[in-house]
Amino acid sequence: MSDNLRDLKNNHQDFTKGSLATNEEKNPYVLFSFWFDEAIASGELESNACVVSTVSLDLQPSSRIVYLKELLDEAFIFYTNYASQKGKEIENNPKASMLFFWPKSERQVRIEGLVSKLPESVSDAYFDSRPLQSKLGAWSSHQSDELHDQKELLERMAFYENKFGENVPRPPHWGGYALTPMLIEFWQGKPSRLHDRIVFEAFEGNWKIYRKNP
Ligand SMILES: Cc1cc2nc3c(=O)[nH]c(=O)nc-3n(C[C@H](O)[C@H](O)[C@H](O)COP(=O)(O)O)c2cc1C
Repeated sequence: MSDNLRDLKNNHQDFTKGSLATNEEKNPYVLFSFWFDEAIASGELESNACVVSTVSLDLQPSSRIVYLKELLDEAFIFYTNYASQKGKEIENNPKASMLFFWPKSERQVRIEGLVSKLPESVSDAYFDSRPLQSKLGAWSSHQSDELHDQKELLERMAFYENKFGENVPRPPHWGGYALTPMLIEFWQGKPSRLHDRIVFEAFEGNWKIYRKNP
């Protein structure tokens, strides 16, 4: 086993960067934007990378990283293949979660809610803005299906490149999802594991705001 893995139990890092003790923000989207800007300013590498978790029909959760692409109409937007594992799971069960971890600011944001497909026009506009190779990749990858031979993928890339040239339309199986939160929790690491946790929970058209034990 690697020495680093063996040493994990001896690592008791403390969190000292900040506090939510004086948080007076009543709008979770404003607080999220503020934290996001601070993650970028801190030099975090992939501030918009987040873990999206979905649940299968037999109740098996699964997680993967996607890029947050926008905060639109109070929903968190990401793009993917609708026929992928996550796409199929969302189709059957629109409840999902999204998790951000910004270690340089010692922060975590946990979002739970319902996922829906974006309007086609919004997905079209974003697809249009992508680099040509990414557009061809969206056609060529049967995301999450078993790939028997790498060659298949390269052949499909060549096929679609030949078929579309420079004008690649959005594949019908590819587009955006909007996660509309029912709950957003902001976690700020603090000394002695007495972390701040502030929850915004949707309640009768408003946000119920409360703290949780660390
Ligand atoms: C940093 C990073 C960003 C990613 N961004 C996306 C993304 O925006 N959309 C996407 O479909 N997959 C993205 N992926 C790949 C996914 O993690 C995953 O492998 C893929 O979506 C298939 O997931 P599924 O089989 O669970 O549906 C990203 C992976 C990493 C490591």
